[in-house]
Amino acid sequence: MSKKKRILSGMRPTGKLHLGHLVGALENWVKLQDEYQNFHLIADYHALTTDLDSNSIYQNSIEMLIDWLAAGLDPEKSPMFRQSQIKEHCELHLIFSMLITSARLERNPTLKDQIRDLNIENVTYGHLGYPVLQAADILLYKGEYVPVGEDQVPHIEITREIARRFNQQYGNLFPEPEPLLTKFARLPGLDGNQKMSKSAGNTILMSDDSQTIKNKLRGAVTDPQKIRKGDPGRPEICLVYTYHQKFNPEETQNIEEGCRSGALGCVECKLKCSEKIISYLSPIQEKRKYFENNPDIVLDILRDGELKAHQIATQTMSEVHSLMKFG
Ligand code: TRP
Repeated sequence: MSKKKRILSGMRPTGKLHLGHLVGALENWVKLQDEYQNFHLIADYHALTTDLDSNSIYQNSIEMLIDWLAAGLDPEKSPMFRQSQIKEHCELHLIFSMLITSARLERNPTLKDQIRDLNIENVTYGHLGYPVLQAADILLYKGEYVPVGEDQVPHIEITREIARRFNQQYGNLFPEPEPLLTKFARLPGLDGNQKMSKSAGNTILMSDDSQTIKNKLRGAVTDPQKIRKGDPGRPEICLVYTYHQKFNPEETQNIEEGCRSGALGCVECKLKCSEKIISYLSPIQEKRKYFENNPDIVLDILRDGELKAHQIATQTMSEVHSLMKFG
């Protein structure tokens, strides 16, 4: 078991997860759990960078954990834990903050995008340091691979720079982690936006019931040139077609032909699509119900994950201290 390479994956707890998370991240995490030793981090401190109201963070963390379990992550194989419960993240973050310049962090394109998208006027010191904390998350567990979307690649690059800098200065301890990019990384939002995201309000949640899914799909944006059944459509620009590709692969060819010729109308196409999504989610939602009804089991999983994560974190920090001649 110790020979398996290590993966550190993480998400910020912003509430219940949506299909974009499932397709773009979780399914990949589930696939990786046998070949690698995985650590799954709930980045609750990182959540504070964009929302200081911490009332919901705990509840969001639990909801996210339940979605992880429902998607098939196995706590026997991979510890799942909250960043805030492992104090070593803070300690390593502080040490790492001396190994990178503020100018380097100001150049981080992910931060620039976030400032623009969220209209942030004044960036906090902690937000600037977001990737430094992420580097601590990864390197505390000596993660060698990090499954992420494109937007996180700059953070992995910063992690590599910090690892290199530490190793040169104090001695070889940390790996230089590599990103693992997912193939089906993006699912478009219901509004036609490239990405499904909570802030855009264009999501289908993993936990949405059948009626909600049907309603949401009914309102989805389609090819504006296809106004009524009979009009030829362009599946390549239609998000519903992308959903068919993912959730209804057996029928995509028919759908494509029907859409192009006009024989298939959007109403029917959307209905078919919602049915496929509903049945795709059905076993996941069944598992979700089980965990919702057994909160003690969920808390036990968290406690156990935090215990295991803490053991590794303490070990790494004692190596850091010894290389730095601290105590
Ligand atoms: N920054 C990541 C995101 O927003 C979340 C995260 C925090 C993370 N720490 C991590 C991801 C460590 C991978 C590894 O998606």
